[in-house]
Amino acid sequence: MLRIAVLVSGGGTNLQAILDAIDSGKITNAEVVGVLSNNPKAYALERAKKHGIEAVCVSPKNFADRAAFEDAYLAQTQKWHPDLVVLAGCMVVIPEKMVKAFPNRMINIHPALIPSFCGRGYYGLHVHEKVLERGVRVTGATVHFVDAGTDTGPIILQKAVYVQDGDTPEILQRRVMEQAEWKIMPEAINLIANGRVNVSDGKVHIKDYVYGKI
Ligand code: GAR
Repeated sequence: MLRIAVLVSGGGTNLQAILDAIDSGKITNAEVVGVLSNNPKAYALERAKKHGIEAVCVSPKNFADRAAFEDAYLAQTQKWHPDLVVLAGCMVVIPEKMVKAFPNRMINIHPALIPSFCGRGYYGLHVHEKVLERGVRVTGATVHFVDAGTDTGPIILQKAVYVQDGDTPEILQRRVMEQAEWKIMPEAINLIANGRVNVSDGKVHIKDYVYGKI
């Protein structure tokens, strides 16, 4: 059974998609053992508690400096002894020490098709604002392993979503979540939990997998 720690910052709809997929059997061989938020007001914490999952907040506001916060944040994650750390709407810049603690064992969902609209400053609603500003017609979401860079790790799954006339950042965000994020994140976890995902030379290979079916 793959032990998963989920790191969140906000609403937690991606966390919910993971929990629902475990309940419905779309994800097998995995359990969520803890949910960690940097934001005490994150609704994701309530979602975890409703599911009987330990939900903890480690907020930077309660620490003297960034290093002390980062140490506590990592220590809490390690307490759960996770096999996989899932960043599901996590707005914390993950310190290098933490990346090194979970080599190819930490994944992130990004609300665009990497390498477009990613990197520093591209998070949450800002990503969709930039997509609309540029006028691209196709965006989407990406699940990738986390490395020392920002949104630079090996890509596991991607799914495209069309931009429509009249989209606002909020409307587009919702469509990207519904059509892409809530599908590819549980799918990636299920593939990892069932030992089908390998990384070599910075690229992901998924055993016996046909892309584009979800
Ligand atoms: C999601 O769109 C996720 O892709 C994005 O934040 C949102 C969180 O929603 N993550 C990032 O931008 C990370 N760089 P949620 O809390 O409802 O899952």
